[in-house]
Amino acid sequence: MKKIGIFYSFNSNKTAKLGEKITEAFEKENIEAVDAETVTEESFNLYENIIVGVPTWFDGELPIYWDEFVPALETMNLNGKRIAIYGLGDQKGYPENFNDGVGIFADIVTKRGAEIVGFTEIDEYKFESSRANVGGKFCGLCLDQENQARLTQKRIQNWVTQLKGEFL
Ligand SMILES: Cc1cc2nc3c(=O)[nH]c(=O)nc-3n(C[C@H](O)[C@H](O)[C@H](O)COP(=O)(O)O)c2cc1C
Repeated sequence: MKKIGIFYSFNSNKTAKLGEKITEAFEKENIEAVDAETVTEESFNLYENIIVGVPTWFDGELPIYWDEFVPALETMNLNGKRIAIYGLGDQKGYPENFNDGVGIFADIVTKRGAEIVGFTEIDEYKFESSRANVGGKFCGLCLDQENQARLTQKRIQNWVTQLKGEFL
């Protein structure tokens, strides 16, 4: 497998911790972590296999640090890249916007030619609406440390196994 770049905020406590767990689950694969708060087009372009970590904030929006990179992302040619997105959200606290960030990010990069990988089943969750819900599946891995923390490790393990078959 080609090397993987995993992008998440090193300052975002829970997102960073789960980014580390995803990295560990890849075991011997070549995976490099990049701080989403200082990401540039150049660092994003180093990888064809990409994982991004996006907690949902502000009732259905991306965190500010991702907002800063989005204008650049919206002009990039992402053809040939496979992008897997993990998100953090709170299905009880924000049932109308559960993990919206995953769907928002997927929309942005799909428009630029990237292929989204790592779709997951929606069954184990309880919420009203989510932009991550694409035709009855999540277009990424939706994690919920507020309400379902005990399911996280298994979800990560299954997702990484899936990605090993879906990355280039
Ligand atoms: C002000 C605020 C707004 C939030 N808005 C949403 C939301 O719209 N949808 C959602 O699923 N989770 C929402 N959350 C929950 C966070 O995504 C969740 O707590 C996540 O674990 C935060 O990760 P982080 O600490 O790494 O940023 C919100 C949390 C806060 C504090």
